[in-house]
Amino acid sequence: MGKVFICDHPLIQHKLTFIRDVNTKTKDFRDYVDEVATLMAYEITRNIPLEKVKVRTPVSDADGKIISGRMLGLIPILRAGLGMVDGILKLLPAAKVGHIGLYRDPETLQPVEYYVKLPTDVTERELIVIDPMLATGGSANASIQLLKERGCNQIKLMCLIAAPEGVKAVQEEHPDIDIYVAAIDDRLDEHGYIIPGLGDAGDRLFGTK
Ligand code: URA
Repeated sequence: MGKVFICDHPLIQHKLTFIRDVNTKTKDFRDYVDEVATLMAYEITRNIPLEKVKVRTPVSDADGKIISGRMLGLIPILRAGLGMVDGILKLLPAAKVGHIGLYRDPETLQPVEYYVKLPTDVTERELIVIDPMLATGGSANASIQLLKERGCNQIKLMCLIAAPEGVKAVQEEHPDIDIYVAAIDDRLDEHGYIIPGLGDAGDRLFGTK
Protein backbone atom coordinates (compact mmCIF):
# COMPACT_ATOMS: atom_id res chain seq x y z
CA MET A 1 0.00 0.00 0.00
CA GLY A 2 1.29 3.47 -0.90
CA LYS A 3 2.03 5.74 2.03
CA VAL A 4 0.33 9.04 2.81
CA PHE A 5 2.74 11.74 3.96
CA ILE A 6 1.20 14.72 5.72
CA CYS A 7 3.56 17.66 5.30
CA ASP A 8 2.87 19.22 8.67
CA HIS A 9 5.84 21.57 8.91
CA PRO A 10 4.72 24.73 10.75
CA LEU A 11 5.56 26.92 7.76
CA ILE A 12 3.29 24.84 5.54
CA GLN A 13 0.44 24.82 8.08
CA HIS A 14 0.78 28.57 8.61
CA LYS A 15 0.54 29.34 4.91
CA LEU A 16 -2.23 26.79 4.37
CA THR A 17 -4.35 28.68 6.89
CA PHE A 18 -4.18 31.83 4.74
CA ILE A 19 -4.86 29.74 1.64
CA ARG A 20 -8.09 28.46 3.22
CA ASP A 21 -9.22 31.92 4.37
CA VAL A 22 -12.06 33.20 2.15
CA ASN A 23 -10.76 36.75 2.67
CA THR A 24 -7.38 36.00 1.05
CA LYS A 25 -7.20 37.85 -2.26
CA THR A 26 -6.25 36.18 -5.55
CA LYS A 27 -2.67 37.45 -5.67
CA ASP A 28 -1.94 36.45 -2.08
CA PHE A 29 -3.69 33.10 -2.59
CA ARG A 30 -1.46 32.42 -5.61
CA ASP A 31 1.68 33.46 -3.71
CA TYR A 32 0.85 31.24 -0.72
CA VAL A 33 0.13 28.24 -2.96
CA ASP A 34 3.44 28.85 -4.71
CA GLU A 35 5.30 29.00 -1.38
CA VAL A 36 3.63 25.88 -0.01
CA ALA A 37 4.50 24.04 -3.23
CA THR A 38 8.16 24.96 -2.72
CA LEU A 39 8.07 23.73 0.87
CA MET A 40 6.30 20.52 -0.13
CA ALA A 41 8.92 19.95 -2.84
CA TYR A 42 11.46 19.89 -0.03
CA GLU A 43 9.50 17.07 1.67
CA ILE A 44 8.75 15.07 -1.46
CA THR A 45 12.40 14.99 -2.52
CA ARG A 46 13.64 13.85 0.89
CA ASN A 47 14.72 10.41 -0.42
CA ILE A 48 15.67 11.34 -3.94
CA PRO A 49 18.87 9.64 -5.14
CA LEU A 50 22.02 11.72 -5.10
CA GLU A 51 24.90 11.59 -7.53
CA LYS A 52 28.45 11.78 -6.18
CA VAL A 53 30.55 14.57 -7.66
CA LYS A 54 33.93 16.13 -6.97
CA VAL A 55 34.24 19.85 -6.44
CA ARG A 56 37.13 22.10 -5.68
CA THR A 57 36.68 24.49 -2.74
CA PRO A 58 38.97 27.52 -2.46
CA VAL A 59 41.29 25.38 -0.31
CA SER A 60 40.97 21.71 -1.33
CA ASP A 61 39.09 19.00 -3.19
CA ALA A 62 35.74 17.96 -1.72
CA ASP A 63 33.23 15.20 -2.27
CA GLY A 64 29.83 16.54 -3.19
CA LYS A 65 26.39 15.09 -3.84
CA ILE A 66 23.91 16.54 -6.29
CA ILE A 67 20.37 15.79 -7.40
CA SER A 68 20.12 14.91 -11.03
CA GLY A 69 17.16 17.21 -11.69
CA ARG A 70 17.07 15.95 -15.24
CA MET A 71 15.39 12.83 -13.94
CA LEU A 72 12.29 14.52 -12.59
CA GLY A 73 8.99 15.33 -14.25
CA LEU A 74 6.18 17.51 -12.93
CA ILE A 75 2.72 16.65 -14.23
CA PRO A 76 0.14 19.26 -13.22
CA ILE A 77 -3.48 18.33 -13.78
CA LEU A 78 -5.12 21.33 -15.50
CA ARG A 79 -5.97 23.83 -14.47
CA ALA A 80 -5.44 24.13 -10.72
CA GLY A 81 -2.26 22.02 -10.77
CA LEU A 82 -0.53 24.86 -12.64
CA GLY A 83 -0.59 26.93 -9.45
CA MET A 84 1.98 24.65 -7.81
CA VAL A 85 4.43 24.19 -10.70
CA ASP A 86 6.58 27.31 -10.38
CA GLY A 87 6.98 26.80 -6.63
CA ILE A 88 8.41 23.33 -7.24
CA LEU A 89 10.58 24.47 -10.15
CA LYS A 90 12.27 26.97 -7.82
CA LEU A 91 13.91 24.00 -6.08
CA LEU A 92 14.06 21.65 -9.07
CA PRO A 93 14.70 23.89 -12.08
CA ALA A 94 15.85 21.06 -14.34
CA ALA A 95 12.59 19.13 -14.01
CA LYS A 96 10.50 18.89 -17.15
CA VAL A 97 6.80 19.68 -17.07
CA GLY A 98 4.03 17.68 -18.75
CA HIS A 99 0.36 18.62 -18.69
CA ILE A 100 -2.81 16.58 -18.36
CA GLY A 101 -6.24 18.07 -19.02
CA LEU A 102 -9.33 16.12 -18.08
CA TYR A 103 -13.04 16.90 -17.96
CA ARG A 104 -15.82 14.88 -16.45
CA ASP A 105 -18.28 13.42 -18.98
CA PRO A 106 -21.66 14.69 -17.78
CA GLU A 107 -23.37 11.40 -18.59
CA THR A 108 -20.89 8.77 -17.52
CA LEU A 109 -19.23 11.06 -14.88
CA GLN A 110 -15.94 9.49 -16.00
CA PRO A 111 -12.85 11.69 -16.59
CA VAL A 112 -12.10 12.21 -20.32
CA GLU A 113 -8.71 13.45 -21.58
CA TYR A 114 -8.83 16.67 -23.59
CA TYR A 115 -5.12 17.57 -23.48
CA VAL A 116 -2.04 15.49 -22.80
CA LYS A 117 1.49 16.67 -23.51
CA LEU A 118 4.33 14.85 -21.79
CA PRO A 119 8.13 15.06 -21.93
CA THR A 120 9.47 12.70 -24.63
CA ASP A 121 11.56 10.84 -22.03
CA VAL A 122 8.71 10.68 -19.50
CA THR A 123 9.11 6.94 -18.85
CA GLU A 124 12.66 7.50 -17.54
CA ARG A 125 11.63 10.21 -15.10
CA GLU A 126 10.42 10.16 -11.54
CA LEU A 127 7.06 11.91 -11.84
CA ILE A 128 5.15 14.14 -9.46
CA VAL A 129 1.48 14.40 -10.40
CA ILE A 130 0.18 17.70 -9.02
CA ASP A 131 -3.38 18.63 -8.14
CA PRO A 132 -4.09 20.95 -5.20
CA MET A 133 -7.37 19.22 -4.34
CA LEU A 134 -7.71 15.44 -3.99
CA ALA A 135 -11.51 15.27 -3.79
CA THR A 136 -13.13 12.13 -5.24
CA GLY A 137 -9.79 10.95 -6.62
CA GLY A 138 -11.26 10.64 -10.13
CA SER A 139 -8.82 13.01 -11.88
CA ALA A 140 -5.80 11.78 -9.96
CA ASN A 141 -6.63 8.15 -10.67
CA ALA A 142 -7.25 8.81 -14.36
CA SER A 143 -3.98 10.78 -14.66
CA ILE A 144 -1.95 8.10 -12.92
CA GLN A 145 -3.59 5.44 -15.09
CA LEU A 146 -2.80 7.42 -18.24
CA LEU A 147 0.86 7.72 -17.19
CA LYS A 148 1.12 4.03 -16.35
CA GLU A 149 -0.40 3.11 -19.74
CA ARG A 150 2.37 5.17 -21.37
CA GLY A 151 4.99 3.15 -19.47
CA CYS A 152 5.69 5.38 -16.45
CA ASN A 153 6.33 3.51 -13.25
CA GLN A 154 7.81 6.04 -10.81
CA ILE A 155 4.92 8.27 -9.81
CA LYS A 156 4.09 10.30 -6.71
CA LEU A 157 1.01 12.42 -6.09
CA MET A 158 1.25 15.89 -4.52
CA CYS A 159 -1.87 17.73 -3.29
CA LEU A 160 -2.51 20.59 -0.91
CA ILE A 161 -5.70 19.23 0.64
CA ALA A 162 -7.22 15.76 0.40
CA ALA A 163 -10.59 14.35 1.37
CA PRO A 164 -10.47 10.93 3.04
CA GLU A 165 -12.61 9.68 0.13
CA GLY A 166 -9.97 10.75 -2.40
CA VAL A 167 -7.11 9.18 -0.47
CA LYS A 168 -9.05 5.90 -0.25
CA ALA A 169 -9.89 5.96 -3.97
CA VAL A 170 -6.24 6.43 -4.99
CA GLN A 171 -5.01 3.82 -2.53
CA GLU A 172 -7.52 1.31 -3.85
CA GLU A 173 -6.84 1.92 -7.54
CA HIS A 174 -3.10 2.62 -7.33
CA PRO A 175 -1.73 0.98 -4.18
CA ASP A 176 1.85 1.62 -5.35
CA ILE A 177 1.53 5.43 -5.25
CA ASP A 178 2.75 7.58 -2.36
CA ILE A 179 0.60 10.64 -1.67
CA TYR A 180 1.95 13.92 -0.24
CA VAL A 181 -0.57 16.35 1.23
CA ALA A 182 -0.50 19.39 3.50
CA ALA A 183 -3.79 18.35 5.14
CA ILE A 184 -6.48 15.68 5.10
CA ASP A 185 -9.84 17.34 5.71
CA ASP A 186 -13.15 16.01 7.03
CA ARG A 187 -15.20 14.94 4.03
CA LEU A 188 -16.70 15.77 0.64
CA ASP A 189 -19.99 17.61 0.39
CA GLU A 190 -22.77 16.64 -2.03
CA HIS A 191 -21.19 18.80 -4.78
CA GLY A 192 -17.79 17.15 -4.45
CA TYR A 193 -16.19 20.05 -2.55
CA ILE A 194 -13.77 19.26 0.24
CA ILE A 195 -15.04 20.39 3.65
CA PRO A 196 -13.66 22.63 5.06
CA GLY A 197 -11.17 22.81 2.13
CA LEU A 198 -10.54 26.11 0.38
CA GLY A 199 -13.33 26.30 -2.21
CA ASP A 200 -12.56 25.94 -5.90
CA ALA A 201 -8.77 25.98 -6.21
CA GLY A 202 -8.78 26.93 -9.90
CA ASP A 203 -11.16 29.84 -9.41
CA ARG A 204 -9.21 31.13 -6.43
CA LEU A 205 -5.87 30.84 -8.26
CA PHE A 206 -7.01 32.51 -11.42
CA GLY A 207 -9.60 34.92 -10.04
CA THR A 208 -12.40 33.47 -12.10
CA LYS A 209 -15.07 33.73 -9.46
N1 URA B 1 -11.75 20.84 -6.50
C1 URA B 1 -11.63 22.05 -5.88
O1 URA B 1 -11.10 23.00 -6.46
N2 URA B 1 -12.09 22.17 -4.63
C2 URA B 1 -12.69 21.16 -3.95
O2 URA B 1 -13.07 21.36 -2.80
C3 URA B 1 -12.82 19.93 -4.62
C4 URA B 1 -12.35 19.79 -5.88
